Amino acid sequence: MSGGATTTRVVTSLTNPTVKAVRALHMRKARQETGLFLVEGLKSVAEAVDLGRVPRILLHAEAADHPLLQRAAALAGETLIVSPAVLAKISRRDNPQTVLGVFEQAFTPLSALDPGASRCWVALEAVRDPGNLGTIIRTVDAAGCGGLILIGECCDPYSVECVRATMGSVFAVPIAKVDAEAFIDWRTTWPGAVVGTLLTAEADFRAAIYRDPTLILMGNEQAGLTSQLAAACDVTVKIPMRGRADSLNLAVATGVMIYAATG
Ligand SMILES: C[S@@+](CC[C@H](N)C(=O)[O-])C[C@H]1O[C@@H](n2cnc3c(N)ncnc32)[C@H](O)[C@@H]1O
Repeated sequence: MSGGATTTRVVTSLTNPTVKAVRALHMRKARQETGLFLVEGLKSVAEAVDLGRVPRILLHAEAADHPLLQRAAALAGETLIVSPAVLAKISRRDNPQTVLGVFEQAFTPLSALDPGASRCWVALEAVRDPGNLGTIIRTVDAAGCGGLILIGECCDPYSVECVRATMGSVFAVPIAKVDAEAFIDWRTTWPGAVVGTLLTAEADFRAAIYRDPTLILMGNEQAGLTSQLAAACDVTVKIPMRGRADSLNLAVATGVMIYAATG
């Protein structure tokens, strides 16, 4: 398959229309309007291509030359060679990656998730920190979980910060988003255990019965799990806090729970 247009002269201007459009993807409004998102680094771009995703736009530095980049460029709708200063402005970093890709967002409808496809799934209520969300997406991928369900007002999994933290796993993990009422309704059809996490729970997480497929439910960074969602769980558990800290970081707690559920 051959790719789209390639600009062979080096683009140095921030007013170039493609550069402007790619920079705008730092804003949630632009991502919502276009359905696109920005991915930094050849590793993540190559991961996307491996999974059958086609870059809409590819930008790279003049010296960047790698078989994986050539493969991505052959597919891309548009390829631009850009100056280091333009890469730095787009990435908002002093030492930017030399390859950037723009891809289509791909949320999965809740109805398309197959609970039997994995022993473990994760649902997050109102996650707010993109670094936490990206780390959780990476952990869900690494542990072989089936996917991630975002409940309520969550931060955007396709923000640049979140995608950066996923290290390419954003392409490998099915992500659904849903409001609390629709989740509670859908949860009634769940064939395995629904295990919620609460600092005030009686049960130790190691004592819970994780009946496959287990759906782990994690709460918001500040407020924890709402009583509405805690009531929708078969059981709620806590991870013991032995020092002075009163809770674990959300992403760390999610990792502990995933490995408890999958052994
Ligand atoms: C930073 S904690 C929330 C703290 C919040 N102040 C509260 O009272 O729940 C964010 C989420 O991480 C999980 N979490 C953190 N530490 C935990 C623990 N020790 N046991 C169970 N879940 C925990 C829960 O899902 C929690 O909702």
